[in-house]
Amino acid sequence: RPRQDLTGLKVVVSAGPTREYLDPVRFVSNPSSGKMGFAVAQAAAERGAEVTLVSGPVNLATPRGVQRVNIESALELRDAVVQSAQAADLVVMTAAVADYRAAEVKTEKEAKGGDTKTIELVKNPDILAELGTDKGRRVLVGFAMETHAGVERAADKARRKNADFILLNYPTQEGTAFGGDDNQVTLVQADGTHEAWPRLSKREVAERLLDRARALLAARPEL
Ligand code: C5P
Repeated sequence: RPRQDLTGLKVVVSAGPTREYLDPVRFVSNPSSGKMGFAVAQAAAERGAEVTLVSGPVNLATPRGVQRVNIESALELRDAVVQSAQAADLVVMTAAVADYRAAEVKTEKEAKGGDTKTIELVKNPDILAELGTDKGRRVLVGFAMETHAGVERAADKARRKNADFILLNYPTQEGTAFGGDDNQVTLVQADGTHEAWPRLSKREVAERLLDRARALLAARPEL
């Protein structure tokens, strides 16, 4: 790879989990570590891109030269990503966005009650799909974790969300995905064509992702 080959490009990366609060001290979330997104942000910055990293709560240092925006909920993530995506050439959604949030966030801590409790949830907006409806010449990349029928489901997601490609991974593989330093992904395009990459460090997955995105951008006419 030529050094600084992303100079002049604006890249937005989302990373980590979201927290959907039920009351001031409780939330629904997931174990996303943010490592994949931080690796993309760091690699892009080192290759010369101007990088905005929109991150949920994670335990990771901000890579050098990266502008970081901290968010908690999916609605906050959406605001931050949609705003920074306006001027972006590439948006990479690695964030593990909660599919649902509480229908009502209690303003005071909920007291213990009976033996069972029902929480009503409402659907969160799909941020990647929203970006896909007004895409311009931006390249949009998503991630998907599937336990079965991965390629088919990921291709369907790429189509539905108008993403250029989706990197599919499996939650069950040892040492990869949630929390691990490696990842084993399959690149899936909307037309169903796919390519399995070997197990690699998240940094190397990030570099290859950026290589592909850069090639797509280079082939795309200016608007
Ligand atoms: O959750 P799902 O498998 O549909 O996620 C696929 C991609 O869509 C991921 O890149 C994720 O960040 C993104 N997504 C999103 N907004 C959501 C749910 C997922 O942008 N509400």
